[in-house]
Amino acid sequence: MSSETLEIYAGKRVLLTGHTGFKGSWLALWLRELAAEVTGYALVPEYHNSHYDLLGLANDIDHRIGDIRDRGHLEDVIQETQPEFVFHLAAQALVRRSYGDPKTTFDTNVGGSVNLLEAVRGCDTVRALVYITSDKAYRNKEWLWGYRENDELGGHDPYSASKAAAELAFMAFQHSYFAQRANLGVASTRAGNVIGGGDWASDRIIPDCMRALRDGTPIRLRNPEATRPWQHVLDPLHGYLQLGATLWSDPNRYSGPWNFGPEIDKGLTVHQVAERAIEIWGNGMIVHERDEDAPFEHRLLQVNIDKAKLELGWRPKWSSERAIAETVDWYKRLAGGATAKETSKMQISAFMEE
Ligand SMILES: NC(=O)c1ccc[n+]([C@@H]2O[C@H](COP(=O)([O-])OP(=O)(O)OC[C@H]3O[C@@H](n4cnc5c(N)ncnc54)[C@H](O)[C@@H]3O)[C@@H](O)[C@H]2O)c1
Repeated sequence: MSSETLEIYAGKRVLLTGHTGFKGSWLALWLRELAAEVTGYALVPEYHNSHYDLLGLANDIDHRIGDIRDRGHLEDVIQETQPEFVFHLAAQALVRRSYGDPKTTFDTNVGGSVNLLEAVRGCDTVRALVYITSDKAYRNKEWLWGYRENDELGGHDPYSASKAAAELAFMAFQHSYFAQRANLGVASTRAGNVIGGGDWASDRIIPDCMRALRDGTPIRLRNPEATRPWQHVLDPLHGYLQLGATLWSDPNRYSGPWNFGPEIDKGLTVHQVAERAIEIWGNGMIVHERDEDAPFEHRLLQVNIDKAKLELGWRPKWSSERAIAETVDWYKRLAGGATAKETSKMQISAFMEE
């Protein structure tokens, strides 16, 4: 699908949950670039200098602070703003935190998501719902090959289980209510770990590297041999936007689950990524620090992206190397005095032009 198709968003009312977070702030900016009228619904940003704050999004969108666990408030905002598109990203998104606080994780990721589904059920203007879960929603069978959309769901840790449960709730609403609305398309999306500028979450490799390089301290790696699919945040967001546009034009055909991820390869190790970051930054050092309390980690789970490629014409645009380079470049530009808004906008337009 070409960029012209994303022109559908111009002038459309879009509700985005989780706009103060990492992925949500990028999506809000992108939607504004596409001239959508965006309402964001989320908690206050958790980090000092969040991407959301740096972009000054509060001035560019209709910014609502709200808790998705508060069903009445969420419904009021949806009734008031009458969105045509809904992107649901709000979640307790950290695996490690889910071990410490499973109750909040389930309440937010399952209970909050059910509130969102209920709010969409009660709002006739919604024509497309893109509902973000995770690749961790798949039951990890330690397979080498990629998981397909019809593979079994499940999760060992509270975060993964909450995302699998959010998928089950989605399916129940799809079959029980949404399928009967001819002009409503609903899709769930399962993407993996992403990287990009403006991520400050603790316990994620890129933010950890960037903090260390900025402060001139060593990068401390607890799990240097672990491999991850390193995808730039713009790649799955591009998939979400394409999906929203196709749901609008042909709701019946495109409703259902979708994977977005990089091409399957053996992946770069955490150590290789830190080395690459140092190379681009210009200086820095790495220290290996084993964490005896590290939570159990499965073999790398990758998703099969054939469906998105064949049916949507979507494909990942930026390789792992490129994703790392663009990400480190983002932080480097800011350290050199550039604004987040100009840097993020520039990366979005470079991405779209390729
Ligand atoms: N970042 C990744 O690598 C990754 C990978 C797979 C899936 N995801 C999923 O993508 C989505 C966005 O992830 P992210 O990395 O931007 O997360 P993030 O932690 O940066 O942002 C989470 C957002 O959700 C909001 N939120 C949390 N609890 C809320 C509540 N109770 N009520 C209202 N808003 C609430 C926060 O305010 C924030 O805006 C999440 O659903 C996450 O599970 C992320």
